[in-house]
Amino acid sequence: MPRTIRPVSGIAGTLSLPGDKSISHRYAMLAALARGRSTLTNYSTGADCASTLACLGSLGVRWEREGNRVEIEGCGLQGLSAPRAPLDAGNSGSTIRMLSGILAGQAFESVIQGDESLSKRPMRRIMTPLRRMGAEIEADGGQFPPLVIRGRPLQPIRYELPVASAQVKSCVLLAGLYARGMTEVVEPMETRDHTEIALLRFGADLRVDGSSRSVVGYPALAGCALRVPSDLSSAVFFLAAALLLPDSDLLIDGVGLNPTRSAVLRVLRRMGAHIEVHPESDSGGEASGTLRVRGTGRLEGGVISGETTAAVIDEIPMLAVLGAASERGLCIRDAGELRVKETDRIATVAANLRQMGVEVTEHESGMDIQGGCKLRAAELDSCGDHRIAMAFAVGALAADGESVLEGAAAAAVSFPEFFDVLASVTRG
Ligand code: S3P
Repeated sequence: MPRTIRPVSGIAGTLSLPGDKSISHRYAMLAALARGRSTLTNYSTGADCASTLACLGSLGVRWEREGNRVEIEGCGLQGLSAPRAPLDAGNSGSTIRMLSGILAGQAFESVIQGDESLSKRPMRRIMTPLRRMGAEIEADGGQFPPLVIRGRPLQPIRYELPVASAQVKSCVLLAGLYARGMTEVVEPMETRDHTEIALLRFGADLRVDGSSRSVVGYPALAGCALRVPSDLSSAVFFLAAALLLPDSDLLIDGVGLNPTRSAVLRVLRRMGAHIEVHPESDSGGEASGTLRVRGTGRLEGGVISGETTAAVIDEIPMLAVLGAASERGLCIRDAGELRVKETDRIATVAANLRQMGVEVTEHESGMDIQGGCKLRAAELDSCGDHRIAMAFAVGALAADGESVLEGAAAAAVSFPEFFDVLASVTRG
């Protein structure tokens, strides 16, 4: 059902948000491959991370969940069992890409698939390195899910990533757990390093040297207790709302501040945000802290390009909405990867911004967003994409009247509580 969104004057209060999606996937997968029990607290409440748990269950891993606490009984690197039916990754690119690395090293065949959106996302990027390691993989049309993976003991490789992708890097490192010797991945630019941190936490032999990451095969992984920090990519919707709505003052505690994820704070500050950061002690090697954001009257635009684009790729839908409300507008460059996310996010962002009366020029790998706009109340559509739903729900709070958002429920992919949390802090 479409959701009606009315404008408000500000957001205020104190928030604790659900756990980070990227980190939750990794902790769950490694807990499954470890020996002994792991306890994960503040596990992501999103449907994507539930898909990862469901797939692990179908591979014979026993787990229990009570709210955001997940107990996983690890079955050891060799302890997974053949699934009786195709594994369902739902909407989750992280689940299919990372789990495929693990499936490639198993002594059985598995099929992994997903929803309509996932079935259109490119998988050749993981098939190429996994085939080089010795796995047999077939895909629909040579590159789309479902993937049929015939696993086996793998060969270690040195792989230079052609695209900056933490999912692909992680896939190869996880496959490297099943290769005798050292598997090395070289990144063209830095991507989120949650897999590296998680591997170390579970006891793998992981080495980092400049842009190269190597893992030694067949480590003795041990279960452990880990708290997942809150998801900075989810927090960004609230930071942006505060930035759009001058009458705002918000505290968000326990947020993940891993430096490979937090470039968005730099970008928001450049756009005029007043964000205070109060660091906390580490949660398992993952930095976290409290953020305080206050409303600003005036937004700066500018250019987002190169490594910055890669570092804020998940936050671009929200940044694009801010760009429309900024004085000079925003140019987004080097963002071709947006075309192969849950939706073609260049197209879905541009279409929704145009609905709100913003002029947008689309390029193959970016867009120019005209600034100085009073966002117009509009009929908006997430097209089933969680980040589009949340970005435009926030944009609608600053519009000149009541908007209607089709597909708002897609927010549940990463943040099912989003609309309730938003309602709890909106003022006026
Ligand atoms: C993720 C990596 C990024 C990101 C995605 C989550 C991860 O994807 O966009 O939301 O958890 O590793 P790519 O690896 O395709 O860049």
